[in-house]
Amino acid sequence: MTKTQIWSAAFLGIFIILFFLQKFTQDDNVASTNTGMGMPQSQSTEKMTPSDASGEVLVKQFNCTTCHGVNLQGTNMAPALVGLTSYYDRDKLINYLRNPNSYLEQDRFKEYKNKFKNIVMPAYGNKDVKELGKIADYLLGLN
Ligand code: HEC
Repeated sequence: MTKTQIWSAAFLGIFIILFFLQKFTQDDNVASTNTGMGMPQSQSTEKMTPSDASGEVLVKQFNCTTCHGVNLQGTNMAPALVGLTSYYDRDKLINYLRNPNSYLEQDRFKEYKNKFKNIVMPAYGNKDVKELGKIADYLLGLN
């Protein structure tokens, strides 16, 4: 082999290597853009869900069931959420969820304080009022 032939062979080899390297990095890029596109998509559906979700779904998403029980039947951490129509209309219930402490003077809350010592009903004032409205509708429809 002449020197020229060796050089051209070397160049050819380098080109082949570069070609494959490029292919691999391209594949990586395609894969990462795929996941990149998949992520925002699933995030956006997650973001969509709260506004689209029913009160029943929101009650689970907000973990109300953790304390009030899977069927909101009450646990040793929180009272059952049935028969609420005798205490609340929609607005009152939304207000309650936003600021539970302002309702403590009602008699049954003294009972709750004894029964569910150290467990505090969280305030949901940071939540979308529309979502709380859906929850209120759902809870008031449970009876
Ligand atoms: C950390 C546990 C916990 C979580 C989570 C929780 N609650 Fe409560 N909830 C309580 C407790 C305890 C009470 C009893 C009142 C009190 O002690 O302040 C209560 C009381 C209530 C009441 C008043 C019941 C009545 O008789 O007037 C409603 C309504 C209610 N919760 C709804 C909800 C909703 C809706 C969610 C979710 C958005 C939720 N709770 C999440 C613990 C919890």
